Formats: sequence, C-alpha cells, structure tokens
Amino acid sequence: MTELITALDYPDAKSALETVDRIGISCLWYKVGKELFTAVGPMIVQELKARGKKVFLDMKYHDIPNTVSKAVHSAAGIGADLCNVHASGGTAMLKAAATAAKESGILLVAVTVLTSMDAMELASIGLNVSPQEQVQRLALLTQTCGVPGVVCSALELPVIRKSCGNDFITVVPGIRPAGSSADDQKRIMTPEQAAQAGANYIVVGRPITKADNPAEAAAQIAASLK
Ligand code: C5P
Repeated sequence: MTELITALDYPDAKSALETVDRIGISCLWYKVGKELFTAVGPMIVQELKARGKKVFLDMKYHDIPNTVSKAVHSAAGIGADLCNVHASGGTAMLKAAATAAKESGILLVAVTVLTSMDAMELASIGLNVSPQEQVQRLALLTQTCGVPGVVCSALELPVIRKSCGNDFITVVPGIRPAGSSADDQKRIMTPEQAAQAGANYIVVGRPITKADNPAEAAAQIAASLK
C-alpha cells in the first residue's frame, strides 16, 4: 500500500493549517520541513496532531551520534510519527539514531544522496562515484545499521528494492500527477507509477498546496494509489 504525504512548505503556521483544514479528510500525513519548523517550532506538530493527522518531521539530522540520538528522541517527544537523518552521517550515527527511534517508537528513514547532487557535485566533496552507486551504498549501510528505510527518488526505487528487499521502507518525493506542472522537479514520476514501483509513501507538495481545490487534488492522488 502507498500512502500520500502532503508537504507543508509554508513560512508560517496560519497558511499551513489553512491548507490542512481545506484538505480535510483527503490526506492523513503531512510533512513539516525546515522552513516551517524553524519559523514556528513544535506547535505546528501539535496542531496537526490535534487534527488527528500524522506528521513526518523532515529535519534531516546530521551530527555526532549522541546529538542525533537526542534529536530523534525530541522528535518523538513532540509527537512526530516519522523523522529522518542523513545516511552519510555514518555507521555510528545511524546505529544511534536507529536505537533512539526504537526506544521512542518513532519511524525513522535516512536520506541517501540529495537529488540536487550530480556526479560533479559528489566529486567536489571527494566522492568519485556515480550518484546511483552512492545511493545503493548508503541504502545498504542504512539497512545494516538497523534504520528501516530511506527517502529516495522514484527512479532509485528499483535499485533500492533490489538491494534492500521489499520490507525496506521507501519515502518518495518528486511526484507529479500526469498533466501537472513539473515546477523545479526534474526526474519525476506520477503517483500511479511510484505506487507500482513499490513506494511506501509519496511526498507531494505544490500539486496539492497550489491547486485551486487542494482537497480534490489530494483525493484524486490518494485514489490513484489504490
Ligand atoms: O512541491 P513538491 O511536490 O516538489 O514538494 C516536494 C517536497 O519534497 C518538498 O518539501 C521538497 O523539499 C521535498 N524533497 C524533494 N526531493 C528530495 C527530497 C525532498 O522534492 N529529494
């Protein structure tokens, strides 16, 4: 089953919650990212929980193991249901995060390679490998360290499914319903294609939040996942 997560990329709580209230029952999961969380803090998670919603707190933690472990506990403490770390934080950090997630009952996934990075960007930080190779390496490391899934692009789904199996959780942004604007996303898939490729969660922002009728847009995407 593939679940829809709407990305609340807003600078303030009022705009975010207006959208959530307009969407109503058409979407259960919401992603709170760095922009919104930095501006308004934990209250946005509490407001979403008060509306019966599930929250993906997209903070992409990347720090020493002790700090990341405590951050994961804090994410669970404020009521988030899903959070994430950078897999490139390495073995000790991933293991500490996995332990913290198990202890606090929050679902945890890791970001492998940012989709904004290409081979040249990787080379500039000393990684002379293709993005695909690095994604595969970090997905396997993530799994070995006990973190149950990754954030990945739809195009990386096949290689991750092959390397890490069907029980490994995949959270997939870069989704565009057929006929909608690609915005700044380059490598996109439709919700149907991502579901068929085995995504557990898809993250959709502007096609819902900028729609004339966000509830209808979310309902259509959710229906296309079934
Ligand atoms: O509006 P749109 O559907 O492009 O929003 C996608 C969301 O997923 C944004 O919050 C974006 O930051 C996030 N994201 C992404 N690509 C990634 C990781 C996260 O688009 N590789």
